[in-house]
Amino acid sequence: MGPRGLELLGLLGLLALAARASRAPRDDAAETLGLWPLPLSVKVSATQLYLSPERFTISHDPYSKADPGCALLQEAFRRYYEYIFGYNKRRNGPARSSNETQLQQLVVSVVLDSQCDSFPNISSDESYTLNVKKPVAVLKANRVWGVLRGLETFSQLIYQDTYGTFIINESSITDSPRFPHRGILIDTSRHYLPVQSILKTLDAMAFNKFNVLHWHIVDDQSFPFQSTTFPELSNKGSYSLSHVYTPHDVHKVIEYARLQGIRVIPEFDTPGHTQSWGKGQKGLLTPCYNAKTPSGAFGPINPIVNSTYTFMSKFFEEISRVFPDQFIHLGGDEVDFTCWASNPEIQKFMEHSGFHKDFRKLESFYIEKILKMISTIKKNSIVWQEVFDNKVKLPPGTTVQVWIADQYATEQSLITAAGFPVILSAPWYLDLISYGEDWRKYYKVNPLDFSGSQEQKRLVIGGEACLWGEYVDVTNLTPRLWPRASAVGERLWSQEGVTDLGSAYRRLTVQRCRMVRRGIAAQPLFTGHCNPEYTK
Ligand SMILES: *[C@@H]1O[C@H](CO)[C@@H](O)[C@H](O)[C@H]1NC(C)=O
Ligand SMILES: *[C@@H]1O[C@H](CO)[C@@H](O)[C@H](O)[C@H]1NC(C)=O
Ligand SMILES: *[C@@H]1O[C@H](CO)[C@@H](O)[C@H](O)[C@H]1NC(C)=O
Ligand SMILES: *[C@@H]1O[C@H](CO)[C@@H](O)[C@H](O)[C@H]1NC(C)=O
Repeated sequence: MGPRGLELLGLLGLLALAARASRAPRDDAAETLGLWPLPLSVKVSATQLYLSPERFTISHDPYSKADPGCALLQEAFRRYYEYIFGYNKRRNGPARSSNETQLQQLVVSVVLDSQCDSFPNISSDESYTLNVKKPVAVLKANRVWGVLRGLETFSQLIYQDTYGTFIINESSITDSPRFPHRGILIDTSRHYLPVQSILKTLDAMAFNKFNVLHWHIVDDQSFPFQSTTFPELSNKGSYSLSHVYTPHDVHKVIEYARLQGIRVIPEFDTPGHTQSWGKGQKGLLTPCYNAKTPSGAFGPINPIVNSTYTFMSKFFEEISRVFPDQFIHLGGDEVDFTCWASNPEIQKFMEHSGFHKDFRKLESFYIEKILKMISTIKKNSIVWQEVFDNKVKLPPGTTVQVWIADQYATEQSLITAAGFPVILSAPWYLDLISYGEDWRKYYKVNPLDFSGSQEQKRLVIGGEACLWGEYVDVTNLTPRLWPRASAVGERLWSQEGVTDLGSAYRRLTVQRCRMVRRGIAAQPLFTGHCNPEYTK
């Protein structure tokens, strides 16, 4: 190659550099470490500190407002020590460090009343700051919820060199979530999910900073929730007596979730999606007719008999005691009107009430009664979007969940214009699978991309990734959820401007291997491999 050729190469090099510089600056540190979801502000210095499993401790600042005996924190300290060192303590490399280059301690400080013994809620403060500097790192948060999120980030800052030595660079991080409601929907009716698999899902949710488990617990196919008031519901309506969540199981899920700063919102979907309810509660469902005679089949809950409301009121009274969260999901989606239309009693009632064969009015009549019931027991309701679309009178503060993929932005505009809070799920139906990297599609969604005022946008409290269970049981729950749901996790936690797919890919690849190392069978994003220690 002659001098001209070299010149040309030099010019190309300069052009490449210029092109690189003109793009948004790459956040190399976050990408190398695989921080997920990306924190609000990350500064990583070039000063490396070493950690040794024998000498490193996570402990309370003695001046912290949290009770040193706070079980939630003690549990979290133990868990994160395990995540950091547990799997390969023995592979810890040769001692390369003197005291001058050691990180000896993570000191955790809770600034306000810790809320150690309470349940997280929609206004829980999850913000934290993390300062890693020798010889001690400091994690500061107003409440225990922020400590939990900060511990996850701290664990993500630690890496191993080729000798296996644990290293953390001095760094400083400030973080808080973009949306307060960041959920995963699981469906335990189409297939029963063993309690252990739900607990594992809660672990993975915490790794991705999710904070709501939307438990779609019963549906047409089975009624696994064991009610103490109406035990026949699960005795007759579950797949079998071993496919049941006992009060002890439910309590276990709720407490396990609490320790990870995760709320559990139960969904009892009515008046449709209720075939399994009918098995243990005679007279609850509407008898369908074939011409003038009962066909033997049953339709949605019968909205015209008083016994329905007596039952529902006792049932939801129990639910409000069992589930501590302020919210109960009432469903209200996909009500099939054909059975109601076939029933002569219902026809008579419709005429009498002046509903003019508009069955949406009958559905509204039912839902309004249930909504009133929920207000009486001092809980807030969440409903699927049809309830809003059918013009049901909603008590203020009723939250509407948007799920229909078609024109969901328009739906968000309408609901928020009417003053109701919104949870977005429409673009995040993870049960709809396809070939390739569909996480990118989930990642690109901006939940505030609809026309409306700032005030309307503030009504979007977050979103949920939904994994419906028709084709999902314990065998494929985890790989189908992760890391696809992680994309939604970052979208809901990180700032609006965090949209670079290249950066997301590099960070998510590391996060996926991290989940695998921690025992979550997350599927691969694409070709490649995890570091050897991750796959053991
Ligand atoms: C940590 O420090 C080392 C040594 O200075 C540097 O090479 C590396 O890029 C730093 N890591 C990150 C994630 O910034
Ligand atoms: C290093 O620190 C440990 C614990 O803080 C202490 O026991 C030890 O004596 C120190 N070693 C040196 C060489 O200073
Ligand atoms: C959330 O929980 C805290 C602590 O228990 C409580 O003080 C606050 O009133 C709750 N907020 C809501 C909206 O429930
Ligand atoms: C159902 O309840 C309403 C209101 O309490 C009452 O007016 C009506 O008579 C009751 N119907 C029957 C069949 O008991």
